[in-house]
Amino acid sequence: MALIPYDDRDGHIWMDGEFVPWRETKVHILTHGLHYASAVFEGERAYSGQIFKSLEHSERLHNSAGILGFDIPFTVEQIEDAKKEVLARSGLESAYVRAIAWRGSEMMGVSAQNNTIHLAIAAWHWGDYFADKMKGIRMTHAQWKRPSPETAPCESKAAGLYMICTMSKHAAEKEGYQDALMLDWRGQVAEATGANIFFIRDGAIHTPTPDCFLNGITRRTAIGLAKARQIEVVERAIFPDELSTFSECFITGTAAEITPVAEIGEHTFKPGQITGALVEDYERLVNGKLLTPA
Ligand SMILES: Cc1ncc(COP(=O)(O)O)c(C=O)c1O
Repeated sequence: MALIPYDDRDGHIWMDGEFVPWRETKVHILTHGLHYASAVFEGERAYSGQIFKSLEHSERLHNSAGILGFDIPFTVEQIEDAKKEVLARSGLESAYVRAIAWRGSEMMGVSAQNNTIHLAIAAWHWGDYFADKMKGIRMTHAQWKRPSPETAPCESKAAGLYMICTMSKHAAEKEGYQDALMLDWRGQVAEATGANIFFIRDGAIHTPTPDCFLNGITRRTAIGLAKARQIEVVERAIFPDELSTFSECFITGTAAEITPVAEIGEHTFKPGQITGALVEDYERLVNGKLLTPA
């Protein structure tokens, strides 16, 4: 299927409070967000016309901007309303929603104290991130490590933090893998390039403590789903030499949902009962068919 570039599509994008025809939503080349990665964003999913955990995403967007030192000139409630309008106008039921806030063009040095903060929201059709889910994806090891919280604003979904994710994902794809496992600066297991990671051993789930990477909304949802099934969830430091001791592995993220992992480099996993149950629970939850916590 031919790729349709994202700047060559029909529809409208919400930009700074109004709807602009899709192809006309431009920023100037001298935009601080482009040169210095002074931008924060959200990736959201709509199922049956409803954005899953919409409020959490809008709140995280505000929080991400605050960590980078700027205030989004729209309240969380205004962002919520704007996203609903974007979705309604698009007519999409299953969609990916991208909200992005960035520093504009008034100042073009490292300092950008006077720059206008912009916000845009777009939605497009979105199917499954990884096809044929229960087969499990193949991951390799990333060369790049998640930085320490003293080095980078890890709790912000900041554009700049994705530089090492794209580099790691490209390297993995070049070798025929779908994703890569990133360690953190200490050498502990951290996450995938755009998703959190979980392991299963003897009926219990183990997942790294999110102290230098995003504590994903899907990660928290998956933990809630596991607990609702009385499955033990242990958040702790996980070291790479433990990988061979786990029987199942899955990753979580808004785009990835809950996706089983079949392989990380030399380690293999067999998506089993627990992973399968959580994949199903998540699918039912996002489609409004599961009314338990999480
Ligand atoms: C690097 C990274 N980690 C984790 C996640 C999972 O976050 P969430 O479940 O909130 O989408 C994402 C996706 O946004 C991500 O890009």
